[in-house]
Amino acid sequence: MYLTITLSILFFVQCTSKHQVTAASLVGTATGKGLKDYYKDYFPIGVAVSMASLHGPDSALIVEEFNSVTPENDMKMGPIHPSENVYNWKNADAIVDFAVSRHIRIRGHNLCWHNQEAGWMFKGPNGEPATKELLLQRLKDHIFAVAGRYKGKIYAWDVVNEAVDDSDDTTQVYRKSNWYKICNGPDFIDSAFKYAHEADPDAKLYYNDYNSEHPVKREKIFKLLQKLIAGHAPIDGVGMQAHWKLNDPSPDELRKALDEVTSLGLKVQFTEMDITIRLPKPNPASGTMPAATAVPDSGYTPLAEAKQIAQYKMAFDIFRKYKRFITGVTFWNVSDRSSWLDGRGGGLMGGAAAGANTPRVVRKAYPLLFDENRQRKKAYWAVVNF
Ligand code: G3I
Repeated sequence: MYLTITLSILFFVQCTSKHQVTAASLVGTATGKGLKDYYKDYFPIGVAVSMASLHGPDSALIVEEFNSVTPENDMKMGPIHPSENVYNWKNADAIVDFAVSRHIRIRGHNLCWHNQEAGWMFKGPNGEPATKELLLQRLKDHIFAVAGRYKGKIYAWDVVNEAVDDSDDTTQVYRKSNWYKICNGPDFIDSAFKYAHEADPDAKLYYNDYNSEHPVKREKIFKLLQKLIAGHAPIDGVGMQAHWKLNDPSPDELRKALDEVTSLGLKVQFTEMDITIRLPKPNPASGTMPAATAVPDSGYTPLAEAKQIAQYKMAFDIFRKYKRFITGVTFWNVSDRSSWLDGRGGGLMGGAAAGANTPRVVRKAYPLLFDENRQRKKAYWAVVNF
């Protein structure tokens, strides 16, 4: 069955109609219609942006194709609030101004994370670990400053990012981050939602995580959501990041994840979508592969392209069926010219689980709907032709 689908898509790739080839060779502006227009009856389509993408050649494509943006890095705690009395507003303000002046909606990313964190927050006045009270006060001040500054301009926030543990140990629900350790449990998550709601009562508030379709992690996220709801946390929905692979998730896993979250009365946004063509090649001894022996970049082969088209088509077919629960789909970066995935990870540690120190090797991921020349890929047409 799976083989039949892949073969049919391969056939589609090789025999693409003249119309599609012609259209794919045009820059967005030439057709007058972008992703946001094809999906206007479904949900907003967004993209992660940086200063470089707003001021370079990506800018026209962003405006043509998308009606939502997420700052890729510029609103995270570390970059925006590097020390107690210092806020770097410049880039975040520029992104907000860019979007507001073009009537593009903005998702805020993010208010509390264990990565790209503001390290000073975890230390007391004399360098000792901060107390729970001090840390929560700082979290509150931070959220009031950031969400307060963009009140009325940012319509949705990823309030807490990636607080759930990745292991297969089902009893270990929460990531043992500095937040968790200092607060001696997950209460900082409830607090963050409460502060965000106080700072901007109209903003939609999301819990955001990756691998939310994998059964073990899905159940852990479900437990966290049940706890938040039981405690009356002001949560509106779940961000499923959607850093996916050619065969992951399966359609059943995706539907199950959607069914579970929406059964709680929550909305869903796919917040960081990309589908890498890279396949991890584990080292049987360690389960990981050192950078030095990583598989070299194989290029965007017809087989990888066919599988990527099939995976994108599967995902958007399901998204459209769940349109009453889905309030946005955002891609993580603009085009295959530059993805956060490129060069990251020599083995199983690639993808969203990769940390900032993961070894970098030259292997492109080709994960998006626009190619290295910012042209629409065949996967683009598979997503919009429905
Ligand atoms: O800004 C510094 C720059 O000053 C310095 O010279 C340079 C040297 O390497 O680093 C720059 O910072 C980098 C930053 O991106 C901006 O480019 C960091 O090293 C790098 O680690 C950081 O990576 C970001 C990553 O989050 C950090 O974990 C990626 O761009 C960003 O796409 C990625 O986004 C995350 C989401 O926020 C949450 N979900 C997973 C997703 C992918 O990891």
